[in-house]
Amino acid sequence: MSLIKIFLILILLCMTIAESTNPAPNTGYLCITDGKKHPQLSSNINITLSKLVAETSKDGFSISSYGSGTNKVFGLAQCRGDIRKKDCSICTKAAATEIIKLCSSGNDARIWYDICFLRYNIKKFFGKVDTYYGFPYSNEKNVTNPELEAFNDGLGNLLNEIGYDL
Ligand SMILES: *[C@@H]1O[C@H](CO)[C@@H](O)[C@H](O)[C@H]1NC(C)=O
Ligand SMILES: *[C@@H]1O[C@H](CO)[C@@H](O)[C@H](O)[C@H]1NC(C)=O
Repeated sequence: MSLIKIFLILILLCMTIAESTNPAPNTGYLCITDGKKHPQLSSNINITLSKLVAETSKDGFSISSYGSGTNKVFGLAQCRGDIRKKDCSICTKAAATEIIKLCSSGNDARIWYDICFLRYNIKKFFGKVDTYYGFPYSNEKNVTNPELEAFNDGLGNLLNEIGYDL
């Protein structure tokens, strides 16, 4: 094998490693907890989340649950519709690891990334509209003056269309 080939393979290997170990950081999270440790709950959270990590990248969405009684945990994870399975898998893995660090014994926890979202809760929340928590994202770029009118028209049309779909 020529030196060049070995070099190229090495670069490819490094890129793969960098990609799989450095997912983008989370863009926000929520943890509702009484501050106490609940070992059985933590263990059920771990199992619920590992089921999500295993399933979500297949279709970009999955729900799971584990445990019984007050220690039952419900989980949901989803990836943005336009991303590759591999990136979905990397993101949900990172989300599960991170939320366990940030919120190992919560009643309700959520974590957002640019390309995926993960949540667990001790109540069954599937299919329920929940506007309890959110945060605004803003684009730090400004619309320049000559484009302002077209921008506002476009924005108005977009919001109208979204409104019709609801
Ligand atoms: C849950 O998973 C985390 C991270 O892998 C681990 O540190 C922790 O001990 C686990 N907790 C339980 C109760 O299994
Ligand atoms: C956008 O406009 C605001 C207000 O004029 C200014 O403070 C900010 O620095 C601008 N941002 C960029 C990215 O130019």
